[in-house]
Amino acid sequence: MRALLLLLLRSGRGGRAVAPAATFLQRGAGAGAGPRRAMALYRTEERGQPYSQNYRLFFKNVADHYISPFHDIPLKVNSREENAISTKKARNEEYENLFNMIVEVPRWTNAKMEIATEEPLNPIKQYVKDDKLRYVANIFPYKGYIWNYGALPQTWEDPNQKDKSTDCCGDNDPIDVCEIGSKVFSCGEVIRVKILGILALIDEGETDWKLIAINVNDPEASKFHDIDDVKKFKPGYLEATLNWFRLYKVPEGKPENQFAFNGEFKNKAFALEVIKSTHECWKALLMKNCNRGTINCTNVQICGSPFHCTQEEARSLVESVLSSLNKESNEEEQVWHFLGK
Ligand SMILES: *[C@@H]1O[C@H](CO)[C@@H](O)[C@H](O)[C@H]1NC(C)=O
Repeated sequence: MRALLLLLLRSGRGGRAVAPAATFLQRGAGAGAGPRRAMALYRTEERGQPYSQNYRLFFKNVADHYISPFHDIPLKVNSREENAISTKKARNEEYENLFNMIVEVPRWTNAKMEIATEEPLNPIKQYVKDDKLRYVANIFPYKGYIWNYGALPQTWEDPNQKDKSTDCCGDNDPIDVCEIGSKVFSCGEVIRVKILGILALIDEGETDWKLIAINVNDPEASKFHDIDDVKKFKPGYLEATLNWFRLYKVPEGKPENQFAFNGEFKNKAFALEVIKSTHECWKALLMKNCNRGTINCTNVQICGSPFHCTQEEARSLVESVLSSLNKESNEEEQVWHFLGK
């Protein structure tokens, strides 16, 4: 029996946590030389009140057209958006390891913001369960999420397919990422990350992979090549990560989470294989080659996908989604849980 102490704090939640998303493409970056010309590739458009059930964060591309962050942002940094579904050979090893990451939850925050996989154009919204907005608990000494947390676009953990290494099916979401760099990003930012390793969380019997990655523009990024560099340069971070995932559902009355491989973090090569297979599952999803369940596949850039829609249709979808939502906002209650060792 573990002792559970609760310390109630007054929540002083003020201000919006959301800033315009900006992904900057440095021309020639990753490939080596070239001028560092920055160009914003994506931006976000906020609708509704943050921390309310009607809040939605929609994504737009550089042409100011609505897109789905789940389906229309390319997985790989160097693939062209227009034909993201066709695989392209990367130019070198470094490029092979560069991925777009959609930041859903900024580090140190608690609101469970996530890509709404079941809604058309998949805006980010706050997770709602039993008609209540969801926040992760503070498990002492952690405050909220301990990394910038998000997902890789164009990936899907298929709930109908058993993973060979974990013997469990997928959790029906894009693959999750923990970004360990020094900067705190905003919800909806699209950043470029280097993959370093992966943890196989088993969450209520489902495989829920957690990638470990670092922002490629982090001042220390050049020191990080694989999972062992995290142990070397950020001692304690992987242990804290394991502990965090083990305990994060305990405050909701759920059991501790389990891990495949005895909680061992797998290396970059292993992680890249997992990404590849979740990308294949996503392709099958978008091309109608599998059971989609409740996932909404509406996209504007995947030519050949039966769920492709025009820009006008996308715009009217955004408008109809918004008019159908109207709920009031909830305040977050700040609680700390002391779960010990
Ligand atoms: C997604 O949402 C649109 C608009 O509500 C709907 O027409 C479509 O059938 C949904 N399903 C899929 C699989 O895209």
